[in-house]
Amino acid sequence: MPDVTAAKPKLKPLRPHFSSGPTAKRPGWSAAALAAACLGRSHRSKQARAKLAQALELSRKILGLPAGYRIGIVPGSDTGAVEMALWSLLGARGVDVLAWEAFGRSWASDIARQLKLTDLRTLEAPYGKLPDLKAADFSRDVVFTWNGTTSGVRVPDGDWIPAAHDGLVICDATSAVFAMELPWAKLDVVTWSWQKVLGGEGAHGLIVLSPRAVARLETHEPGWPLPKIFQLTSKGKLNEGLFRGETINTPSLLVVEDAIDALGWAERIGGLPALIRRTMANFAVIDRWVAASSWAAFLAEEPATRSPTSICLKITDADFLARDAEGRAAFAKAIADRLEAEGVAFDIAPYRDAPPGLRIWGGATVETSDLEALLPWLDWAFAEARRGS
Ligand SMILES: Cc1ncc(COP(=O)(O)O)c(C=O)c1O
Repeated sequence: MPDVTAAKPKLKPLRPHFSSGPTAKRPGWSAAALAAACLGRSHRSKQARAKLAQALELSRKILGLPAGYRIGIVPGSDTGAVEMALWSLLGARGVDVLAWEAFGRSWASDIARQLKLTDLRTLEAPYGKLPDLKAADFSRDVVFTWNGTTSGVRVPDGDWIPAAHDGLVICDATSAVFAMELPWAKLDVVTWSWQKVLGGEGAHGLIVLSPRAVARLETHEPGWPLPKIFQLTSKGKLNEGLFRGETINTPSLLVVEDAIDALGWAERIGGLPALIRRTMANFAVIDRWVAASSWAAFLAEEPATRSPTSICLKITDADFLARDAEGRAAFAKAIADRLEAEGVAFDIAPYRDAPPGLRIWGGATVETSDLEALLPWLDWAFAEARRGS
């Protein structure tokens, strides 16, 4: 019997928002933050274009993008940005795709089944592990996810990516951008959406292109049709307007205003270093708790691969492990449901395809004090789930 207290904690997190996306709004957010939104105006108006350009410029500045890199707002959230990159750029050479959880696997599956590329190697690992990063061949195009949101396994750094590479390096970094250092100069395409670390809204994706990615776009014609919302070029030339805020189709100016607010907050608190510090402080609280826990462990086996944003926990209690798959899923769900019913933690059940356990967001918009308040509740809910069994 694990040594967990069943006493019901008294203190609740002030904000029980621990979802892995959309994530908690920034501290102090209210709908008043959207008052200056450019609503009821054409997105091609001077005023709306200025808002779109402001969101791009703030992102460029906070992230420190290298000179010559383009950044644009595209439809379809992060998925739209990743698919746009895959459909526009792949096919010129062989592809290595690294997949170790649901999102990487879905990119691998789309490259194989939708684009039907045959010179494709999928370097896979099960939940909790990374594939052998050294096996990636950078003479080919390499597609990977920086932070696997559904397993809480991230690449530890960019040391495995050579500075000079013949293929393109295409990185879905949605749960990493604004929370981790990225080696921008080694990456040719980076995508994310505002609904992750910034606590923004869905709908739009961000895409960053290196000069080499632009060169590929201007010299390679994909062997398949491209829907209008994926088109980054016109008559063989990059659509430069897109990277000044002239979006392909109509964006939500409410979502853009919200992103400007989040970026403004990020800048006020000290930019990227402060966002990373907040994220790491959040992770440290959970790390300490896990180290002392008799029933929970990180799903990510290697410490250096543990995500500080999408923190995925597995249950190691012997009684839990003795259950069948259905029993384990029901047990983990009982914990998350009980915490939600108490108003203590929303949306901390794992992704639908991931092993049963808990997933707690530790990105910068979450207050460390709220995580500290949550942890005794995890022990309580676990004990309650045990009692209910
Ligand atoms: C790694 C990763 N890629 C892609 C997505 C899809 O993001 P979106 O819903 O913004 O398209 C997610 C969402 O959780 C994700 O975590």
